[in-house]
Amino acid sequence: MDIDAAKVQALRAGRVPIYEPGLDKLLADNAARISFSTSYDELLEESRILFVAVDTPPTPSGDADLSRVQRVVDEVAQRGGPRLVVMKSTVPVGTGERVVADLEAAGMRDITYVSNPEFLREGAAIEDFLAPDRIVIGAFREEDGDEVEALYRGVEAPIVRTSVPTAEMIKYAANAFLSTKISFINEIANVCEAVGADVREVARGMGLDHRIGPHFLNAGIGFGGSCFPKDVQALKQLAGNSGYHFQLLTAVIEVNHLQKRRVVGKLKERLGSLRGKRVALLGLTFKPHTDDLREAASIVLAARLRSEGAEVTAFDPLVPGPKHVQFPGVRLFADALGAVREADAAVLVTEWPEFATLDWKAVAGAMREPFLVDGRNFLDPAALSAAGFTYVGIGVPPVTPAPVGQAGAATLG
Ligand code: UGA
Repeated sequence: MDIDAAKVQALRAGRVPIYEPGLDKLLADNAARISFSTSYDELLEESRILFVAVDTPPTPSGDADLSRVQRVVDEVAQRGGPRLVVMKSTVPVGTGERVVADLEAAGMRDITYVSNPEFLREGAAIEDFLAPDRIVIGAFREEDGDEVEALYRGVEAPIVRTSVPTAEMIKYAANAFLSTKISFINEIANVCEAVGADVREVARGMGLDHRIGPHFLNAGIGFGGSCFPKDVQALKQLAGNSGYHFQLLTAVIEVNHLQKRRVVGKLKERLGSLRGKRVALLGLTFKPHTDDLREAASIVLAARLRSEGAEVTAFDPLVPGPKHVQFPGVRLFADALGAVREADAAVLVTEWPEFATLDWKAVAGAMREPFLVDGRNFLDPAALSAAGFTYVGIGVPPVTPAPVGQAGAATLG
């Protein structure tokens, strides 16, 4: 059930209104046992267990906006029990207790509540659902937790049974820790640049320590998306509201802001003033395999470049052009070659796999100057050098164009 009629209509017609690899097939394969509705009455006539998966966007104060969650609870309460509300939305610690206290105060003891946070990544959601690292179930009543656990029978994963506030906290702590890992490696990358070390090798050398692990140690232009920035901010805010100043998260957020801007510094170092220079952005979404632009680094980067007087062009496989409201003054092209034509510099913003197999010689030929800032350390510097590029990554030694006929890379300085 969704209040967005257009979304429901699309789903009824077998169309998935978001981009998520594999979801259209999954929907088609299960069409016979899934139905869609815009009506609470219709939904509640048939369902006892209700998964709440509405968004909880940030408010101007940095708190999570719970108005959609509240609306769902109100609608359910109006129609009475018995029901089991399973919270999938990311809600501040204490929400479950508050909802249940409100329901009890209204005499609705037969509407019970379980916290079951989700850990899906956009672009890998099906895989993450079917083979999760863990399933977290926080319940007030043992039997409610058992009921939700039974729904996951057949999915192999450790089950963490806990209290509701602890389950709520696990979700925030997990996202905050992953964000911390990214800001940490980004700071290591910035130091690597100053001392001539290579962050990719540092990350590999660190990640082989099983206590650290290899994941989320890719340095780049910072984390984006609808979850990390919002959840880190909300946890910081939640701590602050409870009288605790979460210093570490303050730094994680600040490092992430500055990281996007460092790209502008790298461009200026090479090109001098950016006024009148043409800069092409390759990729706009906050990560590959999604069409999501929420909190994407590209938005801040494009705006910074425009305010420096640069002319900005862009290409993203899933963001259509030639104009986009999120990118005022930016010209969007239907392919990478169009975006880089006559450009003084290109910035790889999103590591779309197709950029790895681009004809970089052709790209170099189309540009005014073959200069590339790889914001995700995604491309092979030696291959770029061989294609004629001056290549600058994040925390990696920059390379200059290889002499004609030579495949290897010449490391700068
Ligand atoms: C994230 C979590 O990974 C999920 O577990 C969680 O369920 C979800 O948030 C959520 O709370 O709903 P998602 O936002 O889809 O999932 O994206 P991630 O794949 O985690 O990437 C987030 C950002 O971090 C991206 O901008 C990505 O480019 C960046 N990142 C990731 C790095 O800069 N370096 C890395 O090493 C990894």
